[in-house]
Amino acid sequence: MQFGHFDDNRREYVITDPRTPWPWINYLGNEDFFSLVSNTGGGYSFYKDAKFRRITRYRYNNVPMDSGGKYFYINDGESIWSPGWKPCKTPLDSYECRHGMNYTTIKGVKNGVEAEVLYFVPLKTWAEVQKLTLRNTTSEAKTLKVFSFVEWCLWNAATDMENFQRNFSTGEVEIEDSVIYHKTEYKERRNHYAYYAANVALDGFETDRETFFGLYNGFDEPQTVLEGAPRNSVAHGWSPIASHYIEVTLQPGESKDFVFVLGYVENADDEKWESKNIINKTKAKATIARFDTAEKVDAALAELRAYWDNLLNVFSVKTGEEKLDRMVNIWNQYQCMITFCFSRSASFFESGIGRGMGFRDSNQDLIGFVHQIPERARERIIDIASTQFPDGGCYHQYQPLTKKGNNEIGQGFNDDPMWLILGTTAYIKESGDFSILDEPVPFDNVPGSEVSLFEHLIVSFDHVINNLGPHGLPLIGRADWNDCLNLNCFSNDPNESFQTTENKTEGSKAESLMIAGLFVIYGNDYVELCKKLGKNEEAERAQKHVDAMIEAVKQYGWDGEWFLRAYDYFGNKIGSNENEEGKIFIESNGWCTMAGIGLEEGLVTKALDSVKERLDCEHGIVLNNPAFTKYYIEYGEISSYPPGYKENAGIFCHNNPWIIIGETVQGRGDRAWEYFRKICPSYTEHISDLHKVEPYVYAQMIAGKDAFKPGEAKNSWLTGTAAWNFYAISQYILGIQPTYDGLRIDPCIPADWKEYTVTRQFRGATYEISVKNPNGNMKGVKSVVVDGKAVSGNIIPEMPAGKICRVEVTL
Ligand code: BGC
Ligand code: NOJ
Repeated sequence: MQFGHFDDNRREYVITDPRTPWPWINYLGNEDFFSLVSNTGGGYSFYKDAKFRRITRYRYNNVPMDSGGKYFYINDGESIWSPGWKPCKTPLDSYECRHGMNYTTIKGVKNGVEAEVLYFVPLKTWAEVQKLTLRNTTSEAKTLKVFSFVEWCLWNAATDMENFQRNFSTGEVEIEDSVIYHKTEYKERRNHYAYYAANVALDGFETDRETFFGLYNGFDEPQTVLEGAPRNSVAHGWSPIASHYIEVTLQPGESKDFVFVLGYVENADDEKWESKNIINKTKAKATIARFDTAEKVDAALAELRAYWDNLLNVFSVKTGEEKLDRMVNIWNQYQCMITFCFSRSASFFESGIGRGMGFRDSNQDLIGFVHQIPERARERIIDIASTQFPDGGCYHQYQPLTKKGNNEIGQGFNDDPMWLILGTTAYIKESGDFSILDEPVPFDNVPGSEVSLFEHLIVSFDHVINNLGPHGLPLIGRADWNDCLNLNCFSNDPNESFQTTENKTEGSKAESLMIAGLFVIYGNDYVELCKKLGKNEEAERAQKHVDAMIEAVKQYGWDGEWFLRAYDYFGNKIGSNENEEGKIFIESNGWCTMAGIGLEEGLVTKALDSVKERLDCEHGIVLNNPAFTKYYIEYGEISSYPPGYKENAGIFCHNNPWIIIGETVQGRGDRAWEYFRKICPSYTEHISDLHKVEPYVYAQMIAGKDAFKPGEAKNSWLTGTAAWNFYAISQYILGIQPTYDGLRIDPCIPADWKEYTVTRQFRGATYEISVKNPNGNMKGVKSVVVDGKAVSGNIIPEMPAGKICRVEVTL
């Protein structure tokens, strides 16, 4: 069952039934100011950091779901209603929500009045702009009472939810002209305020929440809206809100636009005040003036669209598979940008309070969007590396506002350092900019501790070899990519978190085969980089460690039919046929096959066949099998989840690509494609009722075959999922791979694909690549012709910027 459809020409998903099985959301903004908006107008805004600069309040996991947002209420004399159906839930005559690239429109029609709201964050703007268009489609004049609504959050989204003895007394607002300013804490320690402006004269307003709603009413029936008469309340403490009130009469056929701007301002210390206790509004007014007419708003939206045209023109494909093309050309790349911006710190599932940007996630996110804006990847790499410690270890997360490591989560996830090599080499391969390696980058953000970024790569590499266990395999530390494989945690206290509790690492033999595979892959990348830089001794030194790791994996990490997952604290096998539960895991088999460990001896094929047999199911590849049915204190959180969910045999859309890429390593394009399609959102759109979350983006997890409800997805938008899927499809299936020396073309496709074309911009030149497969092969490039001339090998050398070249590839 579907709740809408794709509109590829406009790059939109069109939702036609507001009762989606879960809030289906979109993200606005892509640099400093951000909003999340659901298909019924729910959501919140923040500046850079969803925890420390929360602008509007949101109620997570509420009854009903998705409570609070940027709402418009219309009182038409007969009923009160909202264009997004919620919160009033008055039945509408028609409804449509269009989620596009960083903008959303929601349109409702009731009693002959059409109300459409456009929400977006204009480029380089610290504000969300909303354009409300009201149209009278009847033959009589209509008089409407219109109310806007947002609820201010008192900045720190965490204390906002708990410190009520303080919060109920601190709230402060100012109202001037048609603008409501939120200035709580501005006079003491904050240099920022927020505002909500309308571009017309107001007929009233409300800034006190209880006056607006009445203490006993919900979002669906604010007292002020029901009565059609605001009281012009001025909030003093309690819970400040902002609601503009506008009366409008529309003649038959007439339509009117109203613009609202929800913005954020920072002022320097000596520019904070206009006069005693009156805030300096200069910057707010300047932003408001940029959007004070519908024409200006439309122009800003056109700029945003052009910006996305440019981004999405960097990579596009035509395969004839509509569902694939729309994911690769639009939604997968869009999600990559969003995860780059948030690294899951803000969503409807991660409340934006507990987490910052993940060290590993942020590095992985880079591989999904570095082709679009390498400059921003560069900045991100330096930010991430600056949170590293001198021994190569790193904070697991950092806060986007301060860019400092997040102490509450701490460190000790031993896969983290290696991801920095991935992020950095991906950036250089795309941009050709080796100068990033000379950038001075501090440790733990301590001024004076700067060394070159290249030295951060050395300590990353060495962190693994300095932390090897009894089998010469990497010690896992707190956990590896699987945050829930807590082999040193031994938690029996329900009041402590698996993720942050003190680990018992002394004497631990817990080793990870996932990190081993990771080390072989990015260790090899590191060796290649060293050679490229002429650092041959370092390359040789590193190569020895990589080779030793390969040997250790073959000797101690092979279980006969697949790769082991780990050794536990005591040195016992995990992910072995000897185990009763959790005999086989996806991560180690993904990484060791991607690394091609034992390819010649047939280990890769065997391991992947075992994955197919034991982990694959209708909805994707589960994480482990058999699922754990009891709590293993020596395994930790993984065994705390019910079978089939999350890290206990759920389907992680993040790690399925590892197997997909593994399949391409040995040339099985049919199988890679089969796996890809199973989790690709556009291919599951028809089961949206089961799948539940948005059909245009990947979810973190789909319930696995052992679950109560297999196929039900959760936690959409999160993690490096989008990046890994884009990486797998673009680089390993379609086979367009940036390398230091040019674009390598190395497809691995289903045998029945006849041809496809890719347009790829790379270091300023455009490559029109056409791949033909006349003999029904899956892998192996026979010939490459560039602008009519045959090229030897499959790397197209770098072309001069501005050049457009035609590349014909035959398999
Ligand atoms: C979840 C993981 C997550 C971790 C850290 C666990 O409870 O299952 O998916 O990465 O917490 O937030
Ligand atoms: C979510 C985390 O953000 C990601 O890094 C992790 O690897 C997965 N959970 C699996 O545990």
